[in-house]
Amino acid sequence: MSAPVVLVTGASGGIGSAIATAFARQGARLILVGRNATAMAGVAKAVEGAGGAAVVLLADLVKDDPARIAGQAIAAFGAVDMLVNCAGVQYFGDAEAETAGGTAQLFATNVVAPIQLIQALLPHLKSRPEARIVNVGSIFGSIGFPCFASYSASKFALRGYSEALRRELADGPVKVHYVAPRYTRTGFNRAPVARMAEALGMNQDNPERVAEQVLAAVRGKRADTYLGWPEKLFVRINAVLPRLIDGALVRQARRMRPFTRGPLVESIESN
Ligand SMILES: NC(=O)c1ccc[n+]([C@@H]2O[C@H](COP(=O)([O-])OP(=O)(O)OC[C@H]3O[C@@H](n4cnc5c(N)ncnc54)[C@H](OP(=O)(O)O)[C@@H]3O)[C@@H](O)[C@H]2O)c1
Repeated sequence: MSAPVVLVTGASGGIGSAIATAFARQGARLILVGRNATAMAGVAKAVEGAGGAAVVLLADLVKDDPARIAGQAIAAFGAVDMLVNCAGVQYFGDAEAETAGGTAQLFATNVVAPIQLIQALLPHLKSRPEARIVNVGSIFGSIGFPCFASYSASKFALRGYSEALRRELADGPVKVHYVAPRYTRTGFNRAPVARMAEALGMNQDNPERVAEQVLAAVRGKRADTYLGWPEKLFVRINAVLPRLIDGALVRQARRMRPFTRGPLVESIESN
């Protein structure tokens, strides 16, 4: 694909902006989707500085019509070759402390929005000689993680959708990739999560590392990518022998509990 047009949601975020800039370095043209005009202007500048072209498309993925977003995206450069679903929100805390509104916003952002954007863009993507969908999941989308129950469930859903869609589209020009980061240093992880990750010695990546892996997945036509070692091993063990992982995560949950005070659900609902 020469100078592909890449649509990135969550482009104002840590990982989304790194993905956009990494594609720009390859000469891609970027459609940056997000809500925050000031932050998006900064990302557009970084994309242009990296050698790409950028169009900012202001949209709230939960509130706005996916058909409108898809239509404006196609109009921006005349085509879209790749959709990177990167926008996401997180809940960290005790399950019973999460509000109904917070849960709804989390699933609307992490599951419903990417699926609806795919549905809106798929007829167009199918008309391209070669097209890609990249869904940014999480290691927690393969390992049900205590104190992140709804977030884990949302990423399980996105992983399942990605697998099913990949199989459905296998005979056509649209390839589907699922990329699952582990803990990444971005604003996504608010203070309690960051403190907990430090205290528990969680492995951490920079967003640029995630972006590298997205590019490698697309280039190598790799279906699923799990970042980090030993995380990718735990993903495999959890898939075949989940009881082996139970003990370690039950102990982990006990160590996480002191950090779950002051749930982050308010930040989800205000998003
Ligand atoms: N950071 C990690 O530790 C980590 C680990 C594993 C997986 N991930 C996944 O990686 C992806 C990106 O995370 P990140 O670390 O880059 O997070 P981030 O810095 O918090 O960025 C999140 C992005 O999602 C956007 N977003 C949220 N709700 C939206 C809505 N309703 N409409 C439009 N945009 C919306 C935000 O836009 P606004 O600027 O408008 O809020 C922001 O651009 C997420 O899917 C996350 O689940 C992250």
